[in-house]
Amino acid sequence: MTSRLPIDKFRQLRTPFYYYDTQLLRQTLQTINDEAGHYPNYHVHYAVKANANLKVLSVINEAGLGIDCVSGGEIEQVLRAGFPADKIVFAGVGKSDWEIQLGIDNDIFCFNVESIPELQVINQIASERGKVANVCFRINPDVGAHTHANITTGLAENKFGISMDDMEGVILLARQMSGVNFKGLHFHIGSQILEMDDFVALANRINELQDRLEERGIFCEIINVGGGLGIDYENPEQNPIPDFKTYFATYNKYLKLRPHQSVHFELGRSVVAQCGMLITRVNFVKQATYKQFAIVDAGMTDLIRPALYDAHHKAVNLTSQGEEETYDLVGPICESSDVFDKDIQLRAVSRGDLIALLSAGAYGEIMASCYNCRPLPKGYTSDELINL
Ligand code: LLP
Repeated sequence: MTSRLPIDKFRQLRTPFYYYDTQLLRQTLQTINDEAGHYPNYHVHYAVKANANLKVLSVINEAGLGIDCVSGGEIEQVLRAGFPADKIVFAGVGKSDWEIQLGIDNDIFCFNVESIPELQVINQIASERGKVANVCFRINPDVGAHTHANITTGLAENKFGISMDDMEGVILLARQMSGVNFKGLHFHIGSQILEMDDFVALANRINELQDRLEERGIFCEIINVGGGLGIDYENPEQNPIPDFKTYFATYNKYLKLRPHQSVHFELGRSVVAQCGMLITRVNFVKQATYKQFAIVDAGMTDLIRPALYDAHHKAVNLTSQGEEETYDLVGPICESSDVFDKDIQLRAVSRGDLIALLSAGAYGEIMASCYNCRPLPKGYTSDELINL
């Protein structure tokens, strides 16, 4: 991964910036299509919240994936990138009227509805336009996931989804409405999940719920299991492509499908994380009483995951051949939490060195902010740097 980087090109660019290896992205997409392709009724939607860079989106669109959006802005962005509206699913606990209108006007594939008030508004807006909106209900399955508390979503205490107890009532209500068409169920239990048992637990819960619904004569065309497959942040170079084979095979083994049902996945991180890295330049090396700081020009405004979730992104000094030394890798922002990593080993760092923070293609560029009036980082693809 780091062995084929265009470092001379990097030197000419203003840092920090994101760099996307489109070759790895294409291989990842190919793997997804191959592995999901074993099961003809499986459909993968890319969760655009992970990365909405237009150049990245166009590669994903070439691979034919559908899309999972959580805002009107995301819908606009994926339409701009050329994705067909009839492959968009639209989730989110607090959709605004204009966002619902946008979805309906573009005839998106399905709304993932998270509450009764939301269902009523979708029904009203669709009816006013003489349309019928497809809806799935996001059910909170009360299934935990072995991941960071801030990215767990499927517990009863989380704000997401409709509780299992209310599921039948809401479906029966939707059936009486003329502006919506009930299609099925949607779930999402969390993100950066590496234990397949968590997905097994979800599949088992879905099986139970489906049995319960069928006793009431309710049949689902669509089962959307959300996303959540994690990646290897510790060894990105050894594991650049997540284990999609086991992931899809797990659902195939445990999720009991009825004939003509389709299963939808909303994968974000696992699609784009490993193909992206944040490239930053060392401004200063500072010797302090107990520490040696490598102070770089990227900060938590460019990559907030370490500050927000204690996330670890492997750092590599791309321009030094020196012996390894111990550093705290920190940014320039006026916040003590602006630390990428503590006590890490890097090849001897000097001013001007380029450092790569790996596995940053997901929830990196898209979560950047302008705090401290900093410009947003740019994103470059390997395809475009070849011609620079
Ligand atoms: N579907 C729904 C309904 C979601 O809420 C999410 C992510 C996904 C799909 C995609 O999940 P993935 O396959 O990427 O795990 N900013 C955090 C992650 C937040 C995830 C939010 N929801 C991070 O940087 O780790």
